[in-house]
Amino acid sequence: MSVSETKSYRILSDLLEKHTGQTLLANRHWRIDMALKPLMRQNSIPDLETLISLIEIDADPRLTMACVEAMVNNETCFFRDQANFALLTGPVFDMLREHRMASKRLRIWSAACSTGQEPYSIAMSFSENADKWRGWNIQIFASDVSGSALTQARAGRYSQFEIQRGLPVMQMLRYFDQKGEEWIAKDSLRKMVTFTEHNMLNSARHLGMFDVILCRNMLMYLGEDKRGLVLEAIAPMLANDGILMLGAAETVIGQTQRFKASQEFRGFYQPAAAKAPAQPAEYRRTA
Ligand SMILES: C[S@@+](CC[C@H](N)C(=O)[O-])C[C@H]1O[C@@H](n2cnc3c(N)ncnc32)[C@H](O)[C@@H]1O
Repeated sequence: MSVSETKSYRILSDLLEKHTGQTLLANRHWRIDMALKPLMRQNSIPDLETLISLIEIDADPRLTMACVEAMVNNETCFFRDQANFALLTGPVFDMLREHRMASKRLRIWSAACSTGQEPYSIAMSFSENADKWRGWNIQIFASDVSGSALTQARAGRYSQFEIQRGLPVMQMLRYFDQKGEEWIAKDSLRKMVTFTEHNMLNSARHLGMFDVILCRNMLMYLGEDKRGLVLEAIAPMLANDGILMLGAAETVIGQTQRFKASQEFRGFYQPAAAKAPAQPAEYRRTA
């Protein structure tokens, strides 16, 4: 690799890390080339060197952010990690249902939700069990650092390839309408999820307390130091009996003391120590 190429990847790597906490491994450089090519074509940028010089002076902040978003891995699908997801929407939600009978309120946060398949999968699970949850106030929040991923998530628009990934045909027909080449989430489904832009490196206390937090397949791309920071930031936002769900290849072990493995639900995590009761004012602000 030439000196200028090494410098280019260092600049891209620094940019990605600054905005998302992610590190750019050398064996992923080929992926970056592929991801940036369409962006360069759209903006009539002839080569990587020109793109780098524009980024260095932040000539167009939108281009800089588009570059970050192109480098981020948005891979996702409906009902990802099926067995674990079924554990979440079955026994975990049942446990919380019992614990929240008095308030009949449940708050769920799909952090790093990418293009929305994760929170819509949760929403569909509640819809499928509508009788059981009748009279409940179910709040599903979903966030991501990527504005373009969120635009797609909010619109609930999926290609044929995306809609087929993980979504059974019955649910595809029940919750989505086909329009040309795309499948669009019905309003009733879209209304169940509130999307918001949020960078997990920052505090999200303004979102309030949650009963379930999903932070899946994001930590694995972060540098070691940043993983702990993200977990520390979300720890105070999870109810004492709340559940944290990570990706299948992720763990809290060695990253933070704030969570421990759940004894009851294999592969899930719970706060390590009870916090002081949640402040009602915080609940009121986001209700
Ligand atoms: C591989 S996708 C995982 C999506 C979904 N959680 C799943 O498991 O299918 C990772 C997502 O994390 C988001 N992400 C990366 N760094 C982030 C950060 N610092 N704050 C918030 N989201 C971030 C990316 O934009 C991307 O959409």
